[in-house]
Amino acid sequence: MARGKNVLGLDIGSSSIKLVQLKESKKGISLSSFSMAPLPSDAIVDGALMNSAAVVDTIAGIVQAQKLKVKQVAISVSGHSVIIKKISLPAMTPEELDESIKWEAEQYIPFDVNDVYLDYQILQTRPEQGQMDVLLVAAKKEMVNEYAAVVREAGLDPVVVDVDCFTIQNCFEINYGYPPGETIVLIDIGASTININVVANGITTFTRDISMGGNQFTEEVQKQLNVGYDEAEAYKLGGEHGVDADSVVPQEVERVMASVSESMASEIHRSLDFYLATSSEGRMSRIYLSGGSSKVPALARTLENRIGVPCELVDPFRGIQIDSKLFNLDYINEIRPLATVAVGLGLRKHGDK
Ligand SMILES: Nc1ncnc2c1ncn2[C@@H]1O[C@H](COP(=O)(O)OP(=O)(O)OP(=O)(O)O)[C@@H](O)[C@H]1O
Ligand SMILES: [Mg+2]
Repeated sequence: MARGKNVLGLDIGSSSIKLVQLKESKKGISLSSFSMAPLPSDAIVDGALMNSAAVVDTIAGIVQAQKLKVKQVAISVSGHSVIIKKISLPAMTPEELDESIKWEAEQYIPFDVNDVYLDYQILQTRPEQGQMDVLLVAAKKEMVNEYAAVVREAGLDPVVVDVDCFTIQNCFEINYGYPPGETIVLIDIGASTININVVANGITTFTRDISMGGNQFTEEVQKQLNVGYDEAEAYKLGGEHGVDADSVVPQEVERVMASVSESMASEIHRSLDFYLATSSEGRMSRIYLSGGSSKVPALARTLENRIGVPCELVDPFRGIQIDSKLFNLDYINEIRPLATVAVGLGLRKHGDK
C-alpha cells in the first residue's frame, strides 16, 4: 500500500470494538465504513486482555461483515501500562536526544526501561535557559505486543500503535482546530477508563487516566435497585431504550446517575486541580467530552458546575462527510461520542509512526 492512504482505525475498548474507515480526497475526508460490536464484560479488565479469544473473534467478525480489503490498522492503548510525562532536559541536538532518551527516561517511569517502548516529542526549546521540554511516552512492551498479537490473529496488520489521548487529540484537531492561545481539556469517558488531556496552544501539557467510567453507573444502579447487570444497563440507557418513564424506577435511576456523576466530576476536578497547581499555563477555556458515558445527561452539566468551565460533547464527524445513502444518520448521531478514538485512529496514514 502506498504511503498516504488511510489505515483502518480500530478502537479496542473495554466494552466494545469500533472500526472506522476514512477516505481522504481533494474533496475532503469522508466516512467509508463504521462498525461496532460489543465485547463480553470480562474480556478486557484494566486495559489487560483477559479473554483474547473473544476479542479476536469480535474483531474478525466485524472485518468479515464489512468485507474490508484494507488490512493495515492503527490501534491505541491507555491505562496504567502507559506513562506520559512532560520533562525538561538540557538543550541538545535531536541526535543526542535520540541517544540519551532511554537513560533520561529511566528516572521518570516506574518500569524497567527495557520493558517499555519509548517515544518522545520535542515540545519546545528554551535557549535562554539552555533547556528543552520533551513529551515522553512509555508503553509496556508486554501490553502493546499482546494487543498487536490479537489484531494479527484477527487477520489484520497493526502498522500504527498510538495512545488513546493523542488519538482523541488528533481527532479533535482535524475537526475543530485549536483556538490560538487557549487551553482546552479533552476528556474521554468510556466504560472503564477516563482519559484526561489538557492541551494548551495545541500542545499536550498534562494527561491522566482514571480507572472509572460508565461501569460505575451500571454497578451503582445494580446495587441500589437490586437488579442484574443487563437490567441495570438498560435502566441506565433509559428512555432511549423503552423503559417506562412514568414508573418510580426512572426517578431512582436518575438519582443514582446524579450521584455517580457527582463523584466522577469530583475525581476529574481533583486531577485538574493538580494540573492547575503544577502548571504555568493559562486557565482552561473549555472542556470537550467524548466516549459513550459522555451521553449521561447529568454529566456535562455536573462537570460544568463543579469545575466552572463550559463543557460540550465532541463531534468526531464534524468535519467528515457522511453519505446519507450509505449510512443511517440517526444511528451515526447516536454513536458519535463513542467513535472519537476510532476516527482519530482512522485519520492515520500508512507509513506513520
Ligand atoms: N446513552 C447512553 N447513556 C449512558 N451511558 C451510555 C450511553 N451510551 C453508551 N453508554 C455507556 O458508554 C460506555 C461505552 O462507551 P465507550 O464505547 O466509549 O467505552 P469503551 O471504549 O468500550 O471503554 P473504555 O474506553 O473505558 O475501555 C458504556 O459504559 C455504556 O453503557
Ligand atoms: Mg474507549
